[in-house]
Amino acid sequence: MSIPPNKPRGVVIAGNWKMNLTLSETQKFWSAFSGGLQGTSAQSIHLYAPAVNLAWLAANAGKQITVGAQNAHGETHGAFTGELSASLLKDVGVHHALVGHSERRHVFGETLELVQSRTLGLLKQGMSVLLCVGETRSEREAQATSKVLESQLASAMTEAIRPFLGKLMIAYEPVWAIGTGLTATPAQAEEAHQIVRRFVWNAFGMEAAAHMSVLYGGSVTPENIAELLKGPNVDGALVGGASLKAESFIKLVQHARAR
Ligand code: PGA
Repeated sequence: MSIPPNKPRGVVIAGNWKMNLTLSETQKFWSAFSGGLQGTSAQSIHLYAPAVNLAWLAANAGKQITVGAQNAHGETHGAFTGELSASLLKDVGVHHALVGHSERRHVFGETLELVQSRTLGLLKQGMSVLLCVGETRSEREAQATSKVLESQLASAMTEAIRPFLGKLMIAYEPVWAIGTGLTATPAQAEEAHQIVRRFVWNAFGMEAAAHMSVLYGGSVTPENIAELLKGPNVDGALVGGASLKAESFIKLVQHARAR
C-alpha cells in the first residue's frame, strides 16, 4: 500500500491525564504549559482531562488547545449512572472524547459492542472521537496483532459512521506499551499504523485513508517522540505519563516535528 503524496494530515499531540491532576493542579499545569507554548510550531494539541476539570479547561485553554473527555456515552441522556453524554460535554464547551481506551476495555470490561455504540452515538451528536485500538502482549506473541486491530476497527467503524469520518481519529496503543516504559519500536509502530490505514482504505476508500490521523500511544516521551514520528503513517501521539508535567509535555511538543 503506498501512501498518497502530500498527505493532508498534520501532527497531533494528545495528552491523556487519566485519573490524575486536581483542578488546582490543572490550573498550575495550564499556566506553565501555556507560557511554554509560545513560539512552538503548528502541531495541534489535545488534552483529555478528568471530567471535573473539563469545564475550567475548556473555558481557559479551549482557544489554544483541544479539550476532550476520557470517555463518553453514545445515548443522548437517561439512566446511565456515572456516564457523560455529548450534550453534557458540549454544554461546557467540550466537543471531543476518547473512546475504547485500553483501560476502558481491559480494566473496566468495555466490550466491542459498547465501544461501537459510544463511537456512533457520539459522532451522530456532533462530537469528535479519538478511537483507541491495540493488542495485548499475548496477542502480539501469538502473531494476532493485525487480526485484533482489524476486529476492533471493523466493530467500531461500521458503515454508519461514513458521514462522520472527518470527526474521527484513531490511536494505535499496544496494551503492552501503556504505562510500562516499553515503547513499540518505530518500525513496530509504523507496521501497526499501516494495518490501521489499510483497514480504513479497504472499508472507506483511499481519500478517507489519506485523511485519517492515526496516533501512536504507549510510553511516548520527549526522548522517543521524534523517532516514532518518522513513520510516514504515524501522525502524532497519545501520551499518558509524559503529559502530566507541563515541562515534559512542552518538551514533547517541541520535539514533535511538524509535517
Ligand atoms: P502512557 O499512556 O504514555 O503512560 O504509556 C498512554 C495512554 O494510555 O494513552
